[in-house]
Amino acid sequence: MASQNKSNFIKLCYKTFHKIRKNNQDFKKGLFMSIKKPSSHSHLEEIVPYQAGKPIEELAREKGLKTISKLASNENPLGPSKKSIEAIEKNLCNLNRYPDMNGYDLKKELSNHHKIPSEKIILGSGSEGVMTYIAKAFLGAGDEVITSSNSFIGFYIIAKASGANLKLIAPKKSNQFDMETIEKSITPKTKLIYLANPNNPTGTIITKHEFEMLLKKCPPNILIIMDEAYFEYAEDYKEYPNSLDYDYPNIITLRTFSKAYGLASLRVGYGIASPEIVTTLAKVKPPFEPNLLGQVAACEALKDHEHIKKGIIENKTEYERLFKYLVDKKLSPIPSFTNFVTFYTKTGENSDWLFNQLLNQGVIIRKLGANNMHDFIRVSIGTKEEMDHFYESFDKISDEFLKKMKG
Ligand SMILES: Cc1ncc(COP(=O)(O)O)c(C=O)c1O
Repeated sequence: MASQNKSNFIKLCYKTFHKIRKNNQDFKKGLFMSIKKPSSHSHLEEIVPYQAGKPIEELAREKGLKTISKLASNENPLGPSKKSIEAIEKNLCNLNRYPDMNGYDLKKELSNHHKIPSEKIILGSGSEGVMTYIAKAFLGAGDEVITSSNSFIGFYIIAKASGANLKLIAPKKSNQFDMETIEKSITPKTKLIYLANPNNPTGTIITKHEFEMLLKKCPPNILIIMDEAYFEYAEDYKEYPNSLDYDYPNIITLRTFSKAYGLASLRVGYGIASPEIVTTLAKVKPPFEPNLLGQVAACEALKDHEHIKKGIIENKTEYERLFKYLVDKKLSPIPSFTNFVTFYTKTGENSDWLFNQLLNQGVIIRKLGANNMHDFIRVSIGTKEEMDHFYESFDKISDEFLKKMKG
Protein backbone atom coordinates (compact mmCIF):
# COMPACT_ATOMS: atom_id res chain seq x y z
CA MET A 1 0.00 0.00 0.00
CA ALA A 2 2.84 2.31 0.96
CA SER A 3 4.61 1.63 -2.36
CA GLN A 4 1.32 2.31 -4.28
CA ASN A 5 1.03 5.70 -2.54
CA LYS A 6 4.65 6.47 -3.33
CA SER A 7 4.18 5.65 -7.02
CA ASN A 8 0.97 7.79 -7.20
CA PHE A 9 2.83 10.62 -5.54
CA ILE A 10 5.68 10.39 -8.07
CA LYS A 11 3.18 10.37 -10.96
CA LEU A 12 1.46 13.42 -9.53
CA CYS A 13 4.77 15.25 -9.18
CA TYR A 14 5.70 14.35 -12.76
CA LYS A 15 2.31 15.55 -14.10
CA THR A 16 2.50 18.78 -12.12
CA PHE A 17 6.04 19.42 -13.30
CA HIS A 18 5.01 19.01 -16.97
CA LYS A 19 1.96 21.19 -16.49
CA ILE A 20 4.06 23.96 -14.96
CA ARG A 21 6.64 23.62 -17.72
CA LYS A 22 3.98 23.74 -20.44
CA ASN A 23 2.27 26.73 -18.81
CA ASN A 24 5.61 28.42 -18.58
CA GLN A 25 6.36 27.78 -22.26
CA ASP A 26 2.86 28.96 -23.28
CA PHE A 27 3.33 32.02 -21.10
CA LYS A 28 6.67 32.88 -22.72
CA LYS A 29 5.27 32.24 -26.21
CA GLY A 30 2.29 34.47 -25.42
CA LEU A 31 4.56 37.07 -24.04
CA PHE A 32 6.72 37.18 -27.17
CA MET A 33 3.66 37.27 -29.39
CA SER A 34 1.96 40.05 -27.49
CA ILE A 35 5.06 42.24 -26.99
CA LYS A 36 6.04 44.11 -30.18
CA LYS A 37 9.51 45.41 -30.92
CA PRO A 38 10.59 48.52 -28.99
CA SER A 39 9.55 51.43 -31.17
CA SER A 40 11.31 54.77 -31.51
CA HIS A 41 9.62 57.98 -32.64
CA SER A 42 8.31 57.50 -36.17
CA HIS A 43 9.76 60.88 -37.23
CA LEU A 44 13.28 59.45 -36.72
CA GLU A 45 12.82 57.13 -39.70
CA GLU A 46 13.69 59.78 -42.27
CA ILE A 47 16.82 60.97 -40.42
CA VAL A 48 20.19 59.95 -41.88
CA PRO A 49 22.89 59.92 -39.14
CA TYR A 50 25.56 62.62 -39.35
CA GLN A 51 28.56 61.65 -41.48
CA ALA A 52 31.79 63.23 -40.27
CA GLY A 53 34.92 63.75 -42.38
CA LYS A 54 36.98 60.57 -42.89
CA PRO A 55 39.38 60.04 -39.97
CA ILE A 56 43.13 60.10 -40.75
CA GLU A 57 43.72 56.67 -39.17
CA GLU A 58 40.97 55.08 -41.30
CA LEU A 59 42.49 56.34 -44.56
CA ALA A 60 46.01 55.32 -43.46
CA ARG A 61 44.68 51.83 -42.73
CA GLU A 62 42.73 51.53 -45.98
CA LYS A 63 45.38 52.83 -48.39
CA GLY A 64 48.62 52.17 -46.52
CA LEU A 65 49.54 55.86 -46.89
CA LYS A 66 52.05 57.62 -44.64
CA THR A 67 51.30 61.28 -45.38
CA ILE A 68 47.70 62.26 -44.94
CA SER A 69 46.23 65.76 -45.00
CA LYS A 70 42.78 65.98 -43.48
CA LEU A 71 41.04 68.97 -44.96
CA ALA A 72 37.51 67.82 -44.21
CA SER A 73 36.25 69.03 -40.83
CA ASN A 74 37.21 72.72 -40.51
CA GLU A 75 39.55 72.08 -37.59
CA ASN A 76 42.43 74.33 -36.54
CA PRO A 77 45.48 72.69 -38.17
CA LEU A 78 47.87 74.30 -35.65
CA GLY A 79 46.30 72.31 -32.81
CA PRO A 80 45.48 73.56 -29.32
CA SER A 81 47.34 76.21 -27.32
CA LYS A 82 50.32 74.88 -25.33
CA LYS A 83 48.65 76.33 -22.26
CA SER A 84 45.61 74.11 -22.86
CA ILE A 85 47.84 71.06 -23.18
CA GLU A 86 49.59 71.90 -19.90
CA ALA A 87 46.23 72.29 -18.15
CA ILE A 88 45.10 68.93 -19.54
CA GLU A 89 48.29 67.22 -18.31
CA LYS A 90 47.90 68.78 -14.87
CA ASN A 91 44.36 67.48 -14.58
CA LEU A 92 44.85 63.93 -15.83
CA CYS A 93 45.17 62.65 -12.26
CA ASN A 94 41.70 64.05 -11.47
CA LEU A 95 39.88 61.95 -14.04
CA ASN A 96 38.32 59.85 -11.25
CA ARG A 97 36.31 62.92 -10.17
CA TYR A 98 33.21 64.33 -11.82
CA PRO A 99 33.78 67.79 -13.29
CA ASP A 100 32.30 70.94 -11.77
CA MET A 101 28.73 70.71 -13.01
CA ASN A 102 28.39 74.49 -12.89
CA GLY A 103 31.58 75.05 -14.88
CA TYR A 104 32.37 77.93 -12.52
CA ASP A 105 35.92 78.70 -13.74
CA LEU A 106 35.14 78.48 -17.44
CA LYS A 107 32.01 80.59 -17.08
CA LYS A 108 34.04 83.17 -15.15
CA GLU A 109 36.67 83.29 -17.93
CA LEU A 110 33.95 83.61 -20.56
CA SER A 111 32.19 86.25 -18.50
CA ASN A 112 35.42 88.33 -18.42
CA HIS A 113 36.15 87.65 -22.07
CA HIS A 114 32.72 88.78 -23.30
CA LYS A 115 31.99 91.25 -20.49
CA ILE A 116 28.68 89.61 -19.69
CA PRO A 117 27.32 88.10 -16.46
CA SER A 118 27.88 84.35 -15.94
CA GLU A 119 24.09 83.94 -15.65
CA LYS A 120 23.86 84.48 -19.41
CA ILE A 121 26.15 81.52 -20.20
CA ILE A 122 25.29 77.86 -20.68
CA LEU A 123 28.15 75.44 -21.31
CA GLY A 124 27.76 72.29 -23.37
CA SER A 125 29.47 69.35 -25.02
CA GLY A 126 30.29 71.34 -28.11
CA SER A 127 27.89 73.93 -29.49
CA GLU A 128 25.97 70.95 -30.86
CA GLY A 129 25.45 69.93 -27.24
CA VAL A 130 23.83 73.31 -26.57
CA MET A 131 21.70 72.90 -29.71
CA THR A 132 20.32 69.64 -28.30
CA TYR A 133 19.39 71.41 -25.02
CA ILE A 134 17.58 74.10 -27.01
CA ALA A 135 15.69 71.49 -29.03
CA LYS A 136 14.79 69.54 -25.88
CA ALA A 137 13.57 72.64 -24.07
CA PHE A 138 11.81 74.52 -26.86
CA LEU A 139 10.90 72.23 -29.76
CA GLY A 140 8.24 69.60 -30.16
CA ALA A 141 5.97 67.98 -32.73
CA GLY A 142 4.27 70.52 -34.95
CA ASP A 143 6.67 73.38 -34.17
CA GLU A 144 8.17 75.04 -37.19
CA VAL A 145 11.88 75.77 -37.52
CA ILE A 146 13.13 77.98 -40.33
CA THR A 147 16.62 78.00 -41.78
CA SER A 148 18.46 77.96 -45.09
CA SER A 149 18.70 74.76 -47.15
CA ASN A 150 22.49 75.10 -47.50
CA SER A 151 23.39 75.19 -43.84
CA PHE A 152 24.75 73.05 -41.01
CA ILE A 153 23.52 69.44 -41.23
CA GLY A 154 24.17 68.83 -37.52
CA PHE A 155 21.44 71.34 -36.66
CA TYR A 156 18.97 69.84 -39.17
CA ILE A 157 19.35 66.44 -37.49
CA ILE A 158 18.81 67.86 -33.99
CA ALA A 159 15.74 69.86 -35.05
CA LYS A 160 14.18 66.94 -36.94
CA ALA A 161 14.83 64.56 -34.03
CA SER A 162 12.71 66.83 -31.82
CA GLY A 163 9.72 66.21 -34.10
CA ALA A 164 9.68 69.81 -35.35
CA ASN A 165 9.04 70.62 -39.02
CA LEU A 166 12.14 71.96 -40.69
CA LYS A 167 11.34 74.63 -43.26
CA LEU A 168 14.40 74.92 -45.50
CA ILE A 169 14.60 78.11 -47.54
CA ALA A 170 16.58 78.04 -50.79
CA PRO A 171 19.62 80.33 -50.78
CA LYS A 172 20.21 83.21 -53.16
CA LYS A 173 22.19 82.55 -56.36
CA SER A 174 25.27 83.88 -54.56
CA ASN A 175 24.84 80.99 -52.05
CA GLN A 176 24.04 83.51 -49.28
CA PHE A 177 21.01 83.08 -47.05
CA ASP A 178 17.86 84.57 -48.55
CA MET A 179 17.00 86.60 -45.46
CA GLU A 180 13.97 88.26 -47.03
CA THR A 181 12.32 84.93 -47.81
CA ILE A 182 13.29 83.56 -44.40
CA GLU A 183 11.50 86.49 -42.75
CA LYS A 184 8.47 86.15 -45.04
CA SER A 185 8.20 82.43 -44.23
CA ILE A 186 7.42 83.08 -40.55
CA THR A 187 3.99 81.74 -39.56
CA PRO A 188 2.17 81.51 -36.20
CA LYS A 189 3.71 78.03 -35.83
CA THR A 190 7.29 79.27 -36.18
CA LYS A 191 9.20 78.59 -32.97
CA LEU A 192 12.79 79.08 -33.99
CA ILE A 193 15.00 80.54 -36.72
CA TYR A 194 18.49 79.06 -37.07
CA LEU A 195 21.20 81.18 -38.69
CA ALA A 196 24.79 80.00 -38.99
CA ASN A 197 26.93 83.10 -39.36
CA PRO A 198 29.36 82.51 -41.00
CA ASN A 199 27.62 79.57 -42.57
CA ASN A 200 28.94 76.05 -43.02
CA PRO A 201 29.33 74.74 -45.76
CA THR A 202 29.28 77.94 -47.83
CA GLY A 203 31.50 80.20 -45.68
CA THR A 204 29.19 83.14 -46.45
CA ILE A 205 27.92 85.70 -43.95
CA ILE A 206 24.65 87.40 -43.12
CA THR A 207 25.44 91.13 -43.08
CA LYS A 208 24.69 93.59 -40.27
CA HIS A 209 21.97 95.15 -42.41
CA GLU A 210 20.30 91.79 -43.15
CA PHE A 211 20.45 90.73 -39.50
CA GLU A 212 19.03 94.03 -38.28
CA MET A 213 16.15 93.81 -40.79
CA LEU A 214 15.30 90.36 -39.46
CA LEU A 215 15.40 91.57 -35.85
CA LYS A 216 13.01 94.37 -36.72
CA LYS A 217 10.49 92.05 -38.32
CA CYS A 218 10.78 88.87 -36.25
CA PRO A 219 8.13 88.54 -33.49
CA PRO A 220 9.82 88.41 -30.03
CA ASN A 221 8.34 85.00 -29.19
CA ILE A 222 10.45 83.36 -31.91
CA LEU A 223 13.89 82.20 -30.81
CA ILE A 224 16.78 83.14 -33.08
CA ILE A 225 19.85 80.91 -32.86
CA MET A 226 22.94 82.73 -34.10
CA ASP A 227 25.44 79.91 -34.58
CA GLU A 228 28.80 81.67 -34.60
CA ALA A 229 31.10 78.63 -34.67
CA TYR A 230 33.47 80.51 -37.05
CA PHE A 231 33.16 83.90 -35.30
CA GLU A 232 36.90 84.37 -34.75
CA TYR A 233 37.60 84.16 -38.50
CA ALA A 234 34.93 86.74 -39.40
CA GLU A 235 34.84 89.22 -36.54
CA ASP A 236 37.11 91.81 -38.17
CA TYR A 237 34.92 92.30 -41.23
CA LYS A 238 32.97 95.56 -41.07
CA GLU A 239 29.80 94.03 -42.44
CA TYR A 240 29.79 91.09 -40.03
CA PRO A 241 27.37 91.43 -37.09
CA ASN A 242 28.49 90.16 -33.69
CA SER A 243 25.16 88.98 -32.28
CA LEU A 244 26.37 89.76 -28.73
CA ASP A 245 26.13 93.45 -29.65
CA TYR A 246 22.36 93.09 -29.98
CA ASP A 247 20.40 93.05 -26.76
CA TYR A 248 17.33 91.02 -27.72
CA PRO A 249 15.81 88.52 -25.27
CA ASN A 250 15.04 86.02 -28.05
CA ILE A 251 18.60 85.64 -29.41
CA ILE A 252 20.74 82.66 -28.41
CA THR A 253 24.35 83.03 -29.54
CA LEU A 254 26.34 79.82 -29.94
CA ARG A 255 30.14 79.71 -29.88
CA THR A 256 32.61 76.85 -29.78
CA PHE A 257 36.16 75.87 -28.82
CA SER A 258 36.20 73.36 -31.72
CA LYS A 259 37.36 75.69 -34.49
CA ALA A 260 39.77 78.62 -33.93
CA TYR A 261 40.63 77.37 -30.40
CA GLY A 262 41.67 73.97 -31.73
CA LEU A 263 39.87 71.80 -29.15
CA ALA A 264 37.36 69.92 -31.35
CA SER A 265 38.04 66.59 -29.71
CA LEU A 266 37.28 67.82 -26.20
CA ARG A 267 33.74 68.93 -27.10
CA VAL A 268 33.34 72.34 -25.48
CA GLY A 269 30.86 74.92 -26.67
CA TYR A 270 28.57 77.47 -25.08
CA GLY A 271 25.44 79.49 -25.54
CA ILE A 272 24.84 83.10 -24.51
CA ALA A 273 21.25 84.14 -23.93
CA SER A 274 18.95 85.83 -21.44
CA PRO A 275 19.22 84.42 -17.87
CA GLU A 276 15.62 83.12 -18.29
CA ILE A 277 16.56 81.06 -21.35
CA VAL A 278 19.77 79.84 -19.69
CA THR A 279 17.79 78.72 -16.61
CA THR A 280 15.40 76.79 -18.85
CA LEU A 281 18.24 75.13 -20.77
CA ALA A 282 19.95 74.14 -17.51
CA LYS A 283 16.86 72.03 -16.67
CA VAL A 284 17.41 69.70 -19.62
CA LYS A 285 21.22 69.74 -19.71
CA PRO A 286 22.99 66.55 -18.57
CA PRO A 287 24.81 67.83 -15.45
CA PHE A 288 28.46 67.06 -16.22
CA GLU A 289 28.84 68.49 -19.70
CA PRO A 290 31.41 69.58 -20.72
CA ASN A 291 33.98 67.20 -19.25
CA LEU A 292 36.83 68.18 -16.90
CA LEU A 293 39.63 68.25 -19.49
CA GLY A 294 37.45 70.30 -21.81
CA GLN A 295 36.68 72.85 -19.10
CA VAL A 296 40.31 73.37 -18.02
CA ALA A 297 41.67 73.40 -21.59
CA ALA A 298 39.05 75.93 -22.70
CA CYS A 299 39.90 78.28 -19.78
CA GLU A 300 43.54 78.37 -20.88
CA ALA A 301 42.69 78.59 -24.59
CA LEU A 302 40.69 81.77 -23.95
CA LYS A 303 43.68 83.42 -22.31
CA ASP A 304 46.19 82.50 -25.07
CA HIS A 305 45.53 85.45 -27.40
CA GLU A 306 48.81 84.90 -29.27
CA HIS A 307 47.84 81.39 -30.32
CA ILE A 308 44.46 82.51 -31.64
CA LYS A 309 46.02 85.46 -33.48
CA LYS A 310 48.63 83.20 -35.11
CA GLY A 311 45.94 80.76 -36.25
CA ILE A 312 43.81 83.53 -37.77
CA ILE A 313 46.77 85.12 -39.61
CA GLU A 314 48.02 81.81 -41.02
CA ASN A 315 44.47 80.89 -42.01
CA LYS A 316 44.13 84.16 -43.94
CA THR A 317 47.42 83.61 -45.81
CA GLU A 318 46.45 80.07 -46.79
CA TYR A 319 42.89 81.16 -47.62
CA GLU A 320 44.17 83.68 -50.15
CA ARG A 321 46.45 81.09 -51.74
CA LEU A 322 43.64 78.51 -51.95
CA PHE A 323 41.11 81.00 -53.31
CA LYS A 324 43.50 82.12 -56.05
CA TYR A 325 44.35 78.50 -56.93
CA LEU A 326 40.66 77.67 -57.36
CA VAL A 327 39.92 80.86 -59.33
CA ASP A 328 42.85 80.08 -61.66
CA LYS A 329 41.33 76.65 -62.25
CA LYS A 330 37.96 78.37 -62.93
CA LEU A 331 36.26 76.41 -60.17
CA SER A 332 34.14 79.37 -58.91
CA PRO A 333 35.05 79.23 -55.21
CA ILE A 334 32.52 80.89 -52.90
CA PRO A 335 34.15 83.83 -51.04
CA SER A 336 34.50 82.59 -47.48
CA PHE A 337 34.76 84.25 -44.05
CA THR A 338 35.95 81.04 -42.39
CA ASN A 339 38.68 78.39 -42.39
CA PHE A 340 37.30 76.53 -45.40
CA VAL A 341 36.38 77.15 -49.05
CA THR A 342 33.60 75.53 -51.06
CA PHE A 343 33.83 75.36 -54.84
CA TYR A 344 31.75 74.28 -57.80
CA THR A 345 32.29 70.95 -59.57
CA LYS A 346 29.31 71.04 -61.94
CA THR A 347 28.05 67.51 -61.13
CA GLY A 348 27.86 65.02 -58.29
CA GLU A 349 29.91 62.58 -60.41
CA ASN A 350 32.69 65.14 -60.70
CA SER A 351 32.61 65.66 -56.92
CA ASP A 352 32.86 61.89 -56.32
CA TRP A 353 35.69 61.57 -58.84
CA LEU A 354 37.71 64.42 -57.37
CA PHE A 355 37.11 63.22 -53.81
CA ASN A 356 38.36 59.71 -54.67
CA GLN A 357 41.35 60.90 -56.71
CA LEU A 358 42.55 63.10 -53.86
CA LEU A 359 41.80 60.41 -51.30
CA ASN A 360 44.07 58.01 -53.22
CA GLN A 361 46.86 60.54 -52.71
CA GLY A 362 46.14 61.00 -49.00
CA VAL A 363 44.12 64.22 -49.14
CA ILE A 364 40.73 64.12 -47.43
CA ILE A 365 38.23 66.76 -48.58
CA ARG A 366 34.46 66.93 -48.06
CA LYS A 367 31.61 66.05 -50.40
CA LEU A 368 28.40 67.93 -49.69
CA GLY A 369 25.72 65.46 -50.79
CA ALA A 370 24.12 65.49 -47.34
CA ASN A 371 23.39 69.19 -47.96
CA ASN A 372 21.97 68.42 -51.38
CA MET A 373 24.99 70.29 -52.73
CA HIS A 374 26.27 67.34 -54.75
CA ASP A 375 27.92 69.67 -57.26
CA PHE A 376 30.14 71.34 -54.67
CA ILE A 377 33.22 70.31 -52.70
CA ARG A 378 34.49 71.81 -49.46
CA VAL A 379 38.17 72.12 -48.55
CA SER A 380 39.27 73.08 -45.04
CA ILE A 381 42.32 75.30 -44.80
CA GLY A 382 45.26 73.37 -43.40
CA THR A 383 48.89 74.23 -42.63
CA LYS A 384 51.14 75.38 -45.49
CA GLU A 385 52.48 71.80 -45.81
CA GLU A 386 48.99 70.29 -45.90
CA MET A 387 47.89 72.80 -48.54
CA ASP A 388 51.00 72.07 -50.63
CA HIS A 389 50.00 68.40 -50.49
CA PHE A 390 46.52 69.40 -51.74
CA TYR A 391 47.91 71.49 -54.64
CA GLU A 392 50.46 68.83 -55.69
CA SER A 393 47.78 66.14 -55.62
CA PHE A 394 45.23 68.29 -57.47
CA ASP A 395 47.80 69.33 -60.10
CA LYS A 396 48.38 65.66 -60.94
CA ILE A 397 44.73 65.12 -61.87
CA SER A 398 43.63 68.64 -62.76
CA ASP A 399 43.80 68.29 -66.58
CA GLU A 400 41.49 65.29 -66.42
CA PHE A 401 39.23 67.01 -63.92
CA LEU A 402 38.98 70.21 -65.96
CA LYS A 403 38.07 68.10 -69.03
CA LYS A 404 35.22 66.61 -67.00
CA MET A 405 34.14 70.11 -66.00
CA LYS A 406 33.96 71.12 -69.66
CA GLY A 407 32.27 67.91 -70.80
C1 LIG B 1 28.12 75.98 -38.22
C2 LIG B 1 28.56 74.96 -37.23
N1 LIG B 1 28.00 74.94 -36.02
C3 LIG B 1 28.37 74.06 -35.09
C4 LIG B 1 29.34 73.12 -35.34
C5 LIG B 1 29.68 72.11 -34.30
O1 LIG B 1 30.53 72.62 -33.39
P1 LIG B 1 30.88 71.85 -32.03
O2 LIG B 1 32.10 71.08 -32.28
O3 LIG B 1 31.05 72.96 -31.06
O4 LIG B 1 29.70 71.00 -31.67
C6 LIG B 1 29.96 73.09 -36.58
C7 LIG B 1 30.97 72.07 -36.87
O5 LIG B 1 31.42 71.85 -37.94
C8 LIG B 1 29.57 74.04 -37.54
O6 LIG B 1 30.12 74.05 -38.75
